[in-house]
Amino acid sequence: MKAVAPSVLAADFTRLGEELRAMEKAGAAYHHLDVMDAHFVPNLTFGPLVVQAARRAASIPLDVHLMIQDPLTYGPLCAGLGAEIVTFHYEATPHVHGGLVKIREAGARSGLSLTPGTPVEVLGPVLNYVDLVLIMSVNPGFGGQAFIPESLDKVARLRAFLKENAPRRPILIEVDGGVTDRNAAELYRAGADILVSGSFLYGAPDYGLALASLRGGDL
Ligand code: DX5
Ligand code: ZN
Repeated sequence: MKAVAPSVLAADFTRLGEELRAMEKAGAAYHHLDVMDAHFVPNLTFGPLVVQAARRAASIPLDVHLMIQDPLTYGPLCAGLGAEIVTFHYEATPHVHGGLVKIREAGARSGLSLTPGTPVEVLGPVLNYVDLVLIMSVNPGFGGQAFIPESLDKVARLRAFLKENAPRRPILIEVDGGVTDRNAAELYRAGADILVSGSFLYGAPDYGLALASLRGGDL
């Protein structure tokens, strides 16, 4: 898969509905929504109210990325609001298995995210409960940061790890942070299925061209 998920964090919030529709027209596969709580990460963004509003305005699936300390409460809640994918951080809670199970029970696909310092091998014990792995290619918390170059290798290692440990189940690989037209092609080549991009896409004068440039020209 070669999908793009624009990160709403970089959108103009005074015109959220219009922004979402413009990205859909440009070819977005998902809207990526960054929920932050000022505890797991220093930044504070938005919560269920905006997820609900985005669900009403959007006609493609929502991909909710929880950067919060309490995914066991808000994960199922966002799933109940109609998010297709709900992802939380391995580093945020000792109850990783419980969180993944609860998100699935609430009707969403379960995602687990790893910060740059967490190795892919931690996925082993919970792999049966994961539908998507989100590799952070910056430290979570803010849009507009520079891509950490070692992330490329990590994506390739994750692809190999999944091939070996879950050969019969398609688990999606998503990459988030500092994604631009300079690194997108190699990230897809390394095994990424979904690229998240905030400032590069929402900062572009033409969303359609910017999105196509991430996919190597395929619209
Ligand atoms: C960062 C967020 C990202 C962010 C990406 O913590 O998880 O989704 O919006 O923004 P860019 O593409 O600007 O790095
Ligand atoms: Zn994100």
